[in-house]
Amino acid sequence: MFRDITTLLKDPVGFRVTINELVKRYTGVKIDRVAAIEARGFIIGSALAYQLGLGFVPIRKQGKLPAETVGHDYELEYGADRIEMHVDAVSKGERVLLVDDLTATGGTAGAACKLIESMGGKIVECCFVIDLPDLGGRARLEKQGHKVFALCEFE
Ligand code: PRP
Ligand code: ADE
Repeated sequence: MFRDITTLLKDPVGFRVTINELVKRYTGVKIDRVAAIEARGFIIGSALAYQLGLGFVPIRKQGKLPAETVGHDYELEYGADRIEMHVDAVSKGERVLLVDDLTATGGTAGAACKLIESMGGKIVECCFVIDLPDLGGRARLEKQGHKVFALCEFE
């Protein structure tokens, strides 16, 4: 079952409530940057960063970012992929909130955390609109030592 957030995004109340709930959770939390994962993570992450008054760091698929990048390779169910961010996107000791629309296996978010940590960043929490617990993403990320928050879960 592919869980699609576009129906939520096109609903003005649904979109606003989603972002407002996340803003409530992170207001007053010490965060230096919001980092989010291409492509649907950008929609949630940038709105959240804007409302929190924080800068936004895009984490993208290979070859998309214009300046010097650092990358992390990770395994998919079938094959492999690579995500990248700019080398100067996160500095040592910065506290980063990682945002995506959804976690399934946790492979993408786990790779993003490793990438951020490789530059000395600290992951405050991994934040999702949707968790699919049967696919093990939360468990995988927690095993990696991260806090995980999701607004809702689906089978
Ligand atoms: C989806 C979703 C997450 C990832 C979750 O992105 O937005 O980034 O899959 O899967 P995982 O937990 O098993 O790693 P997708 O790869 O479909 O890319 P898109 O957002 O660019 O469409
Ligand atoms: N990304 C990986 N698995 C997914 C799912 N079941 N629904 C939406 N996005 C996904």
